[in-house]
Amino acid sequence: MTGTLNRRRLLQVGGAGFAVAAVGAGGAAVAHSVADEQGTDSALHGPVPFHGEHQAGITTPAQDRLHFAAFDVTTSSRDDLIALLKEWTAAAAQMTQGKEAGQTGATGGSTEAPPDDTGEALELPPSQLTITIGFGPSLFTTADGKDRFGIAAKRPAALADLPHFPADDLDPARSGGDIGIQACANDPQVAVHAIRNLARIAFGRAEIRWSQLGFGRTSSTSVAQSTPRNLLGFKDGTRNLKLEDTALLDSQLWAHSADGAGWMAGGSYLVARRIRMSIEIWDRTSLGEQETIFGRAKKTGAPLTGEKERDEPDFSIAGADGQPLIAEDSHVRLAHPDHNAGAHLLRRGYNFVDGSDGLGRLDAGLFFLAYQRDPRSQFVPVQRNLAKHDRLNEYIKHVSSALFACPPGVQPGQYWGHTLFG
Ligand code: HEM
Repeated sequence: MTGTLNRRRLLQVGGAGFAVAAVGAGGAAVAHSVADEQGTDSALHGPVPFHGEHQAGITTPAQDRLHFAAFDVTTSSRDDLIALLKEWTAAAAQMTQGKEAGQTGATGGSTEAPPDDTGEALELPPSQLTITIGFGPSLFTTADGKDRFGIAAKRPAALADLPHFPADDLDPARSGGDIGIQACANDPQVAVHAIRNLARIAFGRAEIRWSQLGFGRTSSTSVAQSTPRNLLGFKDGTRNLKLEDTALLDSQLWAHSADGAGWMAGGSYLVARRIRMSIEIWDRTSLGEQETIFGRAKKTGAPLTGEKERDEPDFSIAGADGQPLIAEDSHVRLAHPDHNAGAHLLRRGYNFVDGSDGLGRLDAGLFFLAYQRDPRSQFVPVQRNLAKHDRLNEYIKHVSSALFACPPGVQPGQYWGHTLFG
């Protein structure tokens, strides 16, 4: 039993406080964009179970907001690292259920000491917060092959460094990381609070290397969700892997012990790419060209060979000019499993606008997140295909890259990474 405080209970004690607090926190705006598919306000702001076979935040219906952080581990002690993972797990279990971090929370401790929780999520409901952790290649081995924490032999073959792709323009300061943590919620303050408290707990053992905020999920991960739009104005996530695709999730999303790294069974590999968009150039591009680039209609999201969003694309149909209706260099043709040896991805990305670049352009794009069983046969071949041929490349640039092995879920009493360090 912990002595932690429950943010929601505090709200309920306040009578009408729940609704007021939710609106005051920007809840009304969030509800407007996602309530249609996720049901009532209370479901939108309620908790997602933390414990389970798989980590939450992968097949969980995508929430509206993201705060992602990559950490560098600064301690060289294996015991310190394990202690940190245990403290993080406990804090994540509490925060995802709407509780304050630590034993005494934001205001229940000694006035002589910094509080256990930073306090900005007080009065806010859980907002479907999920916190998902992954381990980067550099946690296992340094660039010169040194075994940092006695886990080098357990580095999965699937966690091979990603190759360089044509036109990559990666910023090393915004790439990589020993540990990646994805916090998703329907309230941005709840997601930020989660990352901030994990960073605070990590003091002296790990520090943030880079981080990314995101809004307006660019995927749907359940058939119950409507398809959102990315900053190019197109529906994104139509043919995504979804939690209802149970057979495909088993073969394409979750790692198996037979894959080689037993500790990863039930886990998944995450590729993160910050993709900058030249939206000002895009905005001067004709609607016809925009639709040709994707191979889909902007209004409905339907493939150019169909009428409705969910119609299957037919790559064999040609127009009057003899050219395929879905162009050879269109994004959906090149990314389709039929053209990538059956590879699927569970995409879970977010839009970002990080101010402007001083040259009159928004620093905007897609923070691409994709989960899969093995990046070597999924993300890598798909991205090779796209990087070489995609007509969209004229408008986008990959500016950061990271890869993480996200372990299976935990049960009460277990900690993130217990199968790796145990
Ligand atoms: C800024 C960059 C990108 C944008 C704006 C974008 C946008 C889209 C859109 C609008 C669709 C069609 C709707 C759908 O099925 O979801 C789509 C499909 C897809 N995209 Fe992207 N995408 C981007 C980057 C990527 C990258 C880097 C990958 C993987 C390497 C990728 C993989 C896919 C896949 C697998 C599909 C589904 C193809 C199918 O099965 O029909 N996308 N994307």
